[in-house]
Formats: sequence, structure tokens, C-alpha cells
Amino acid sequence: MSASPSPPVARQTSVARQTSVVQQTTVEPSTRSAPSTQHPAAVADGILDAIGNTPLVRLRRYLDRPDLELYGKLELANPGGSAKDRPATRMLAEALERGLVGPETLIVESSSGNTAIGLAQFCSFHGLRFRCIVDPRTQKQNIAILGAYGAEVDCVTEPDPLTGDFLTARLERVQQTLDSHPNTFWPNQYANPDNPLSHRLGTIREIVESLDGRLDLLFVATSSTGTAQGCQSYLRQHRLETRVVAVDAKGSVLFGGQRGERRIPGLGAGKEPPLAASVSFDHIERVSDLECVVGCRRLARREGILAGGSSGGVLEAVRRMAPEMPRDTVCVAILADRGTRYLDTVFDDAWVERELGCSPDGLQRAVEGTAPTTA
Ligand SMILES: Cc1ncc(COP(=O)(O)O)c(C=O)c1O
Repeated sequence: MSASPSPPVARQTSVARQTSVVQQTTVEPSTRSAPSTQHPAAVADGILDAIGNTPLVRLRRYLDRPDLELYGKLELANPGGSAKDRPATRMLAEALERGLVGPETLIVESSSGNTAIGLAQFCSFHGLRFRCIVDPRTQKQNIAILGAYGAEVDCVTEPDPLTGDFLTARLERVQQTLDSHPNTFWPNQYANPDNPLSHRLGTIREIVESLDGRLDLLFVATSSTGTAQGCQSYLRQHRLETRVVAVDAKGSVLFGGQRGERRIPGLGAGKEPPLAASVSFDHIERVSDLECVVGCRRLARREGILAGGSSGGVLEAVRRMAPEMPRDTVCVAILADRGTRYLDTVFDDAWVERELGCSPDGLQRAVEGTAPTTA
């Protein structure tokens, strides 16, 4: 956004800030609880200018450890609903700038979720043609969102005959599309350095500036590893001692993981992306699908934040590691997307019982922290 970075208000409590607003100014009763910042909201020059400068929110209730400072970086507040607005916009803006994309170009990408939505948002704004390659497991809601932005959707119906997986079949379809059209561009988020760069220039810079560099542990969900890599490279460049915890899914092949079934979209990878080939993080923490559900439910009930599956996983990784943290440790968890697209999975008791084998009672106890998270 063209506005200055987030004001450094992160350490003040929202209650304290609201009180000072009420004391200093005469506010109509109906608006008293609304403003939590003393600065007027910036005006964005178009929707893409509204990407970034997402809120950093103190989470006082999630952990039962008042001596720790936990913050959530609400990437879910980006206009397309996720952290992927940043790389989608950066990859295409750079391609436009370098003349790789023009009004006649067909942009093609294999994605069934947040990246696709971020790309569709950009292409709609710039009047560009975007074709998204999806497969039968893509959520109907996401296909509807892509259609609403004016994107073309090409659904691969059969998995790759050799490997049996849909990802390979989708990438094959991308290649066929590139080969059969004269003017195409493939952002390829899994290999494109503009993906991590968008987080280095945005996400982590905003976090560090909001906290004046006071950050001990950063928890980031991984798939392309773009977010975690971009954050880590900024921290190292600025010689900050923050440790980066990559939170990956059980069943993901990243970081030498064993391939297995995964039901939470966005988190983990079934194939190692080129971006991840030579990268390592300070610590890897693996979370189960059920831990993602427990984290999302706990976040919604304790903090009033409705976030998607990977955010729940990241917060449960924080909760698991909390007993080893000395008092006053400052942690930030990146909350990558909104919970509204998970209402019929993560937030649906019947789905959790059927797919993850956890009864509503067992789930409730895990969310409250009175029983361990086991199916
Ligand atoms: C909800 C969600 N969380 C986390 C990630 C992982 O981010 P990255 O691809 O930057 O590793 C993704 C990626 O698609 C995602 O959609």
C-alpha cells in the first residue's frame, strides 16, 4: 500500500487503545468499539494496492502462558483472503514490467486454492486472461470464486497414468497449454524467486517493523516454502537472531518427510518444489490434520479469529513448543488464510469425525486442552 508501514502499536493492548480513543475524543456510542488505531486508514489506489500491511494481533488467550508474547500476522486480511495475494501480485507485476506479459497473453497456472485466487484477482484488475488448471478434488467454492473473477477453469479429469497423482497430470496440462498457444506465461510459484521475494519485501519486514525487531520465534506453514524462505532471508540479511520454525504437514515430503495422506489444503507438498531444493530452516515441526482442526477451533473460540487449516497447525506447533520457551519469549505465527472456505471441513463436526476419526466430544476436549489431540 502507498501508506507508511503499520504504526508501531502492537505492544499496546486493544483495550488500552480503545480506552484512550474514548477518553480523548467524543465518539458516537455506535462507533466506540470500532477504531483501534489512532491513524486514519490509508486510501488504497485500487484493490492490488490494498495487499499487505496486514494486522499484527496480540493473541493473549490462545496459550495458557501469560508470560509469553504471541502475535498472529493476519495474512487472511489480504483482499483475496490469503498470504498468496503477495506472491501472485509480485510474480505477475514483475512479468508485466519485464514485458513477459501483455494484453494478448494467456496466463496459465496449476493451483486449486489461494494462489489461483490471488492470480485471478490480479488478472481481473488488469484485464488479463487467466486459465487455471484444477482437478476433481478442487473445492467447488474455489472454482466459483475463480469464475466470479472471470478466470477460465480447465479441470483435469484423470490422474497421471504412471504416478497415479493429479499434480503430475495438472503440470502436464500446463505444459500442453504452453505448447499449444503462441503467447503464454506460467508464473510457476514453485520455482519463481518472486514468490519468496514478495514475503521478504512485505510480510516479514512489516512484522519486524511492528515489533521493533523484538522477535524470538517465527512460525510459518510450508508448501512452496516461499513464505518461510522470504522471511528467513530478510532476518538473516538484517542479522536478526530470530529462529524460523517451518511448520509442515505430517504426510508431506518436504524436508525428507514420509509421503502420506493429507486432508488440509495449502499445507505441505506431495512433490518437492524446486524452490525447496537447497533450503533449510532452524527447526521443522510437523502437525497432523487433526491438530490443524484443533488449532482453528481454539483460535475461533478463544481469540475470535476465523482462520484456515494451516493457521490452526501453526498455532498448535506454538502450543506444543511453548513448554520449552523461557518467559518473555516473543513469537509470531503467520495466519495464512481465512476460515470461511473451511466451514464444511475443519469447522464441521461430522467431517472431522468421518475423515479424521475424532468424535465431537474428543475434539472439544482437545480444543479446551483437557485431553491430548488424538483421533
Ligand atoms: C493456507 C496456506 N497456508 C500455507 C501455505 C504455504 O505457503 P508457501 O507456499 O509460501 O510455503 C499455503 C500455500 O499455498 C496456503 O495456501
